[in-house]
This record gives sequence, C-alpha cells and structure tokens, in this order.
Amino acid sequence: MAVRRLNPVQPAQFAFTPENLAWASETIAKYPEGKQASAIIPLLWRAQEQAGWLPEPAIRLVCDMLGMAHIRGLEVATFYTMFQLSPVGTKAHIQVCGTTPCMLRGSGDLIAVCKSRIDGHSHTLNADGTLSWEEVECIGVCANAPVVQVGKDTYEDLTPEQLTKIIDAFVASRQPKPGSQTGRVASCPVTGPTTLTDPALFDGSTVGAWKKRFEETSDGKAGVAEAAPPSSPGGAAPKPAQLHPAALTAMANAGLVKELEERSGGKALSADELSKIKADMVRDRAIAGAGASRNVEPDLLKEPRGGKADDLSLIPGVGADVVDKLHAIGIWHFDQIAKWTPQNVAWFEVQLDGFMGRVTRDKWIEQAQKLASGWRPETKAGKRPKG
Ligand code: FES
Repeated sequence: MAVRRLNPVQPAQFAFTPENLAWASETIAKYPEGKQASAIIPLLWRAQEQAGWLPEPAIRLVCDMLGMAHIRGLEVATFYTMFQLSPVGTKAHIQVCGTTPCMLRGSGDLIAVCKSRIDGHSHTLNADGTLSWEEVECIGVCANAPVVQVGKDTYEDLTPEQLTKIIDAFVASRQPKPGSQTGRVASCPVTGPTTLTDPALFDGSTVGAWKKRFEETSDGKAGVAEAAPPSSPGGAAPKPAQLHPAALTAMANAGLVKELEERSGGKALSADELSKIKADMVRDRAIAGAGASRNVEPDLLKEPRGGKADDLSLIPGVGADVVDKLHAIGIWHFDQIAKWTPQNVAWFEVQLDGFMGRVTRDKWIEQAQKLASGWRPETKAGKRPKG
C-alpha cells in the first residue's frame, strides 16, 4: 500500500454546497453535546463525494465545523483508505484488496488487469482521467475473496475477466451490479446453503406453534417469564428471571421450552436459578451427544489404599486446594482418575463448582493414566538440571 500523503497540489479553499452544508448541520446535531467530533467520518465522506477526492482545505473546514484541531482530521483522513488524498478517476477508482485471503484467491491477477487497463502505477489517472486504482488492505469481505471496492460498493468473487467487464461498465457510465459476481448470496457456500434449510424455520410456523404453547402454559404457572414471583419476608419480592425473546425463540425451535418448564417445577425463577438450569441442560445435552447418559459417580474410596495417597498435585491444574477437594469426595489415586468416563467427568463437575471443562482442558485423565503407569514429570521427580 502506498504511503498516504496529501496531494502536493491543493485548491486554495473548499466550501460545502448549500445542500451539503444543511446536511452536515443535521448530521452534527445527531451527536450529543460535546461529542460532535464523532461526525468527522460522515462529514469527510460527504466532502469527498462533493469534490471527487478529499482536498486538504476540506479537512480543515470539517475540523473547524466540529471544533477539532486540524491534526485530528488529518489523522483520520490519512488513516482510512476510504479517503482519497489525491484526485482519482472521475468514473471509478478501483481499490483492490491485496491482503492474504484475497492474495491467495488471485488479487495479483486483478492488479495485473488494473495495470493493463488503467495505468502501470497505482494512484495514477489513466489518459482521460476517468479511471485510477490502488491496492488496499482488507476491506472486510474476505469470505468472498478476491474483492475490489469502488466507492461504497464491493465487487466479490472476482476473476480477471469479470473485473475487466466491471471496468468496461464504468467506462460506459453504467453502474455494474455490486456483490458476488458468481451469484452466491452473501458468503454462503458456493454449493448453496447447507444449514438452516428447513423452510419451517422461516415461514413463521415454528415460532407460531411455540408462541401458542408458551401462551397456554405461561398463564400464571409456567414460571419462566410471567408467573407471579414469591414474596420474600421483609423485602421486595424477587423479580422472576426474564429470557430475551430471541433466546426463547431459539429454545422453542430446539424444543427446549417444555424441558425448561419441567425443570423449573412451575415456579418463578431467579436469574441464578435460570442460569443453573440452562447450564444443566447444556451439559446434559453435551453428554447425551457424546453417546453417554446422565452423570455417573466414579469409583470412590473412603481413605487412600495402604494409608498413602498419590501426589495428585502432579496433574496439571491440580493445586493443593484442589487436592483437598479431591480427597474430600474420595479420590486419592491416579488410577481412579485414569478410569473416568465422560459420565464420571460430568458427575465430578457437578460436585466441584467452577470445574466445568477443566478436566478435559487440562487433560487430567491422560495425565493420570501416565502417572498411574509410573511416569513422572522431570521437574517434579527431582531431575531438574543442576544450577
Ligand atoms: Fe480481502 Fe479481507 S482479505 S477483503
């Protein structure tokens, strides 16, 4: 990307047209008192649309309108490649993304098209001043790489031939259709959508069915959103927890509302109770998804075999406080942990609050299996190199 400097040749002054001045005043008024500087990008953009590029007097004028130091405006204008600091093609200025995803998908070939159709150098007008081009960094459409941007529009999934046609259209003063040039919608797979393909998800029938059921069951007894909260002696009644409508819709689609109602026992839930029930549902589904049933108690011992426990602190993530907790629930030896099944892990995570995911993340079972077979980490076995 070229160094972004102001054009050496600048107009003596810049003034907004009356229409643009009125628009600028309205735009500035949208921001709270003291935050007018936030309007700098739309105002600079409007100045650029008016002049065709962003002259330095326009930057100063916008800063004066917003009560900002000129250097602040220059910082913004020179940072964003959306602002053109030199005159660009009157019909199109092609910004070719050259960042890695676009580069891997052929942006080099698009740059070659620009060099042959416009000029061998970026930021240089073609012979009649209608076209120019530059290479820019990621413009945020990486999933549809390679991409070029012209003004506010992006042209995606490009080949050199398609870019040539797009340039031809601009030369002919036609507006080419922006977006993917292969016809795909947004960034969906080239073979078409592969998920959320059930029409019932979009025709309203699923949500309608859920809404009806929810209205039927929430009439003062379902407890999730509308049940009367129990009064608490000596204080304000706790507010029942509320689920965001979008969360309820998602849960209804997944068939979870009924289960939530059953687990709540038909009473109003505090936010903590609701979180706990949701966490239990998520965990139980994860276990079921792994082919397991609910949590299962592993082999526990009242006391260590032979009166001597293994040094469980050799397992990564197990500190002295965790060792005490393990002993308290009857786990003393490596081979006990080495045999844990997913159901046992689920049981353990219920017993020790705050351990959700830790056993798997820190590889307790694999470590316990190695330790049970006699392996010891070097630093803990006294093999630390001398000195
Ligand atoms: Fe080209 Fe992101 S890398 S748009």
